[in-house]
This record gives sequence, structure tokens and C-alpha cells, in this order.
Amino acid sequence: MKLTRRRALALTAGGIGLAALGGGGYTAYLYSSAKVDTIGEIDFTNALHIPPVQDGQIDNVGNRVFDLQMKPGSRRFKDGDDTATWGFNGDFLGPTLRARRGETVKVNVRNSLPETSSVHWHGMHVPAAMDGGPHQSIAPTDTWSPEWTIDQPAATLWYHPHPHGATGRHVYQGLSGLFIIDDDEEEALDLPRGYGSNDIPLIVQDKKFTSDNQFDDDPGMLSQNGVLGDEILVNGTHSPYLDVHHDRVRLRILNGSGARFFNFGFSDDRPFQVIASDGGLLERPHATRRLQLSPGERAELVVELEAGRETVLRSYPPELHVDFIDARPHGGHDAFDVLQLRTAATVSSTAAVPDVLTDPIVVDTTEVAATRTFELSGFTVNGQVMDMNRIDFGVAANSVEIWEVRNVDSWVHNFHVHDVQFQVLSVGGQPPQGHMAGWKDTVQVYNGSPVRVAMRFGDLSDPNLPYMYHCHILYHEDQGLMGQFVVLGDGEEIGTVPYSDTGHDHGLAKASSTPDS
Ligand code: C2O
Ligand code: CU
Repeated sequence: MKLTRRRALALTAGGIGLAALGGGGYTAYLYSSAKVDTIGEIDFTNALHIPPVQDGQIDNVGNRVFDLQMKPGSRRFKDGDDTATWGFNGDFLGPTLRARRGETVKVNVRNSLPETSSVHWHGMHVPAAMDGGPHQSIAPTDTWSPEWTIDQPAATLWYHPHPHGATGRHVYQGLSGLFIIDDDEEEALDLPRGYGSNDIPLIVQDKKFTSDNQFDDDPGMLSQNGVLGDEILVNGTHSPYLDVHHDRVRLRILNGSGARFFNFGFSDDRPFQVIASDGGLLERPHATRRLQLSPGERAELVVELEAGRETVLRSYPPELHVDFIDARPHGGHDAFDVLQLRTAATVSSTAAVPDVLTDPIVVDTTEVAATRTFELSGFTVNGQVMDMNRIDFGVAANSVEIWEVRNVDSWVHNFHVHDVQFQVLSVGGQPPQGHMAGWKDTVQVYNGSPVRVAMRFGDLSDPNLPYMYHCHILYHEDQGLMGQFVVLGDGEEIGTVPYSDTGHDHGLAKASSTPDS
């Protein structure tokens, strides 16, 4: 089924008001209702909060053990009332978990929320039972303790809830955090790495507040995307500034929004160097003035700063590759002041970014086990909405596949695959540019511009428990734009997904789960 924009609007809105508005009136309504521009309007009064690092504890078998507790809280983001929030180990967002390649980690995730949730390690190569998707539900008062060995390069990953049909709401309430992987290769490079001083994590999120300062996640009758906020929080800080004491800083940026695309750049249009994408370092730094990230994508950049000056990290109107009328309700005309960087009168100097950062980003495609096509439309992929009981296909462990992802409607989408980092082979037939040339787990997919990616699946197989692929516009995901695949070992066949609507203990056979006491 092909869901066109207007058809879906009609479905969403039940046709209310559309007829009354008529074509031109409807267009005018969308046009006038949605534009947001905060350039020059932000007073930068709050010091940027830096999420604390949790290194964990080494247990008696040498594993690195982290503790996360999901719980309700409240936070004063701005003048007026406190906002009711959810957070990990605090009121809003969570600690930055940090571990090294090769380590075995265990995370005790305790759910002290009033409802069932889950925690997914976005970008991580993990056994399906530890993935934290919708099959690894954690009931209130339970603790889920997944364990896995980190086997991928240094990167800025993140974690967030993934409960079936409710990911958007759980993330919007404040449940997200970074998971930084370190390795010897990255540490051998002369890059800024003083966490919170010249290596700055930035979780950028748009929010809409009600008049009494509560998070407003009502997508509105005409929304195709879920809520688009008109205010920005960075690491949970409203109107943030950062005092800098170095002549170069590294920004590790996560677009932690549910639906908003950001097109980052600086207020004085200074250039910067992108050094990493979702899955780790780029082969070479990419010099640019703009960096567009869709929900769920990360990138790292290094920017040069001058002593005694200020500059503002902004989001310019994103390039959404849709027509003018469609751009407006997708936030395509919106601009934000995001973070002010205030450089001290004297700064310490940092080395220039090396010319070569890592090995070429290449998946060997001489032997391709399968080529698949994914058509994204409305809330569907290949014409179907997500079904927890349907495994869409199986892939062979240790095999290489090529996936072609097409946006076949007039909406804006992206595409995220669990378990793997992939190489983008082409975008609309052209070689990928900038951060798209690095390891990716989430890509923007525009109509008329199919994205071909290649990935190698590892040896972690499980015929019964699937991984997800989906649009990371969380409203699209929650409405059904998601599918499931399993990784099959030698001689394995697609099994039966052990899912029932009432049970919340799936995937726990291999991870330990203990009731909270
Ligand atoms: Cu960041 Cu399936 O998710
Ligand atoms: Cu989508």
C-alpha cells in the first residue's frame, strides 16, 4: 500500500478541517503554522551541563559492570514551573557510559518507571538477546542485565528505550544517554579528548513546552512526524553556553530528537572538520560548513576557536529534498541558535587534526549473499507495518549483504539497522559525501535518492530473536515503519519469535533478570 502524504493526513486528521480549509487554505495553514526561527533570540544564560561519565566497576570475573536506573523525576529547565521528566540515574537523560574495545560489559538496568520499557544500545554489535529492542521488555521493578563483549572501533554510540509502540514517548520524557567506546587506534591519534573540557558531548533535542512548562508530545492533528519542538535543550540545558579554554574543541553531537533534522553550522559560518560518523572515525577529516543530522545520527567535529571570541553553534534550515510546501511541516524552514561557545582570553593550544584518521571504510563486496530492497512509505516498509510476531527475513552469519533503501513517498525518513555498522555505497547513484562516507547505522533517505549500503553480519546468531530495522523518526517507528530480521548460524532456520502481548520476559534466557527488591 502506498500512503501518500495527503492520504495519510486525511487518515490522521480524519479529514477534519481539511475540506473546510480547501486546497489553498490548507496550504496556507501549514505554511503559517509551523515556521520556527530562534536565531538571535536566545540569551545563553545557562552553563552547559556535561553528563557525568560512568566507567562502571570491574567485577570478580573482570567484566565492566554499569548500573542504570530508569525513574521519574522533575527538572527546572527555564523560568516558571518544574517539568516532570524521566531519566537514568537522575532526573533527565543519563550518564555517559564508557568502555574499551575488547572488554566484556554488563549493564544492570532497573526499571523504576510506572510502565514497561526497554533499553537499546544504538549502534552496538550485540547478541539479539542483549539488544534491548521491543523483545527485551523490562517490567516495572525488574532489573535486566545484558552482557556482551565490545567488538567494534571507538565510537560515540547511545542508549535509549525501545518499547513496542512507545519509543517516542519514552525518549521524549528524557530517557537517552551516550555510550562511548574507546580503543587504542583512536587514542594513538592527537585528537582533543578531555571529556567536558575540549571533548564535549552534545545531546541536542527539540522540545515543545506547555504553558505550565510540561513536555508537550501531542503531535497535533496534521502531523506526519510526531511533535516538532520550538525550543532546544542541549544535554538537558536550555539556552546553553560553554566556556572554552582551548583553541580547538571536539564536539560529539547526537541528534536526540524524535523527528527534527538539524543542519549544524556556526553563526559566523566558520568551517570545521568532521572526524567521525555514527560508527567511528572517518578515513580522513572532512572540512565543511554544514553538518546535517537526522534523529538518531551522531557525528564528531573539531572546530578551531580564537581566544577572547564567541561563536554560536546553530541549526540552519535543513535540506529535506521535498517541495516547498512539504518542507514546512517537516521543519525544513526552521532555524535555531543551539549553543554559545565562549573562548577564554588565553587558551591552550591543541594539535591540528591528523590528515588520516583510520583505515578505508570498506565492506568487501566480492561475495554478496543477498541484495534486498526496502521501500519506505508513510508508516510502512515494503507495504507492511511492524508485527512483533513476524520475522521478515533471515541473514546468514558472517555474510555480506547489500540493502537498497528507497523513500517512495513525499515524507522525510531515515533508516536505522540494529547490530551492524554499514558502509554507504551510494546515494542517488553518487558516492557518499562527508560523514556519509564513514561507518553508519542510521542514514537519511530522501525521495528520488535511493541509498545503497553494504554490511557484514557477524557471528552472533539467534534464529528466534530478531533485530530491528526502522525509520528513526520515532513517530513513524511507533506507528509501524519497522521490521525484524534474524541472524542465522550454519544450518539454522528462522524460528518462532517468542512474543506474546502479555509476556515481558523475552530474550532473558541468556541474560539474567532478577526482580527488584
Ligand atoms: Cu535508536 Cu531501533 O533504535
Ligand atoms: Cu520515517
